[in-house]
Amino acid sequence: MKLKDRVALITGGNQGIGRSIALAFAKEGAKVVITARNEERLRETLAELKRISPDARAFPTDVGDELQVQKLFAEIRTLYDRIDILVNNAAITGPTKKLAEMTAAEWMEVLQINLLGTVFCCREALRLMEPAKRGAIVNISSVAGKTGRVLRSPYAASKAAVINLTRTLATEYGPLGIRVNAVCPGAIDGERIRRVFAAKAKALGITVEEAEQMRVRETPLARLIQPSEVAAMVLFLASDDAGGMTGQAVNVTGGREMR
Ligand SMILES: NC(=O)c1ccc[n+]([C@@H]2O[C@H](COP(=O)([O-])OP(=O)(O)OC[C@H]3O[C@@H](n4cnc5c(N)ncnc54)[C@H](OP(=O)(O)O)[C@@H]3O)[C@@H](O)[C@H]2O)c1
Repeated sequence: MKLKDRVALITGGNQGIGRSIALAFAKEGAKVVITARNEERLRETLAELKRISPDARAFPTDVGDELQVQKLFAEIRTLYDRIDILVNNAAITGPTKKLAEMTAAEWMEVLQINLLGTVFCCREALRLMEPAKRGAIVNISSVAGKTGRVLRSPYAASKAAVINLTRTLATEYGPLGIRVNAVCPGAIDGERIRRVFAAKAKALGITVEEAEQMRVRETPLARLIQPSEVAAMVLFLASDDAGGMTGQAVNVTGGREMR
């Protein structure tokens, strides 16, 4: 087992890609902790995780709220007094429209969750990882963080910031044996991408099917990628198999965007 007894926190672990990561980690022997805001979905995913690993835990938390993140880490400290792996996966899509139509409040909400939520969790985790002189952080960015994304400027900016945060923390904490990498998914099959296609279709006056086809046409593998395919990359980066890697932003995009 690649993560036997490692304590791993996955934010946004109650659905979608986060749920797939949590299940993959539990199968590899990790003591998984998941967090998100929707308590009912957290309970459902926790029940699923516990069938694989009875150690699994779930704590409702808004990662954009500094005090709630501190409370979450106090629970982890009480339970295990350490954290080996942090996956910053929680994020929101934000508005789909031109910049001129966006409000400051819409921008702030996206940055508060996608960027500051990642910062708050990294800071608490690093406070535990630093004395242990080991740890792995995987930040889920997006290919939009490299290319930009039309009509979704706050999201694209927040994901670019996550890539640069990753590189900075990798440099700061590398000498202490702590690795920090990012994964940049492309269009991943699931509820979220359906919402994205619906919003894009509305904004451009096309059908949802046309919005999906536009994305598929830009993808060399000519299909959406599965959440389990992203989870496999996150598992690799969190495990000792990636012991020589830090500061990287790895695309899982079906070939869309090759830098
Ligand atoms: N799906 C894609 O095509 C795609 C592409 C590129 C990148 N990504 C990235 O991959 C990650 C997961 O995406 P997904 O498709 O699985 O999205 P999703 O289905 O919308 O799930 C997002 C998760 O984040 C949680 N979350 C949102 N705001 C939160 C907050 N303030 N505090 C705590 N948890 C919060 C949600 O739970 P609650 O709502 O219950 O809080 C949910 O568990 C995101 O970082 C996303 O940007 C996805």
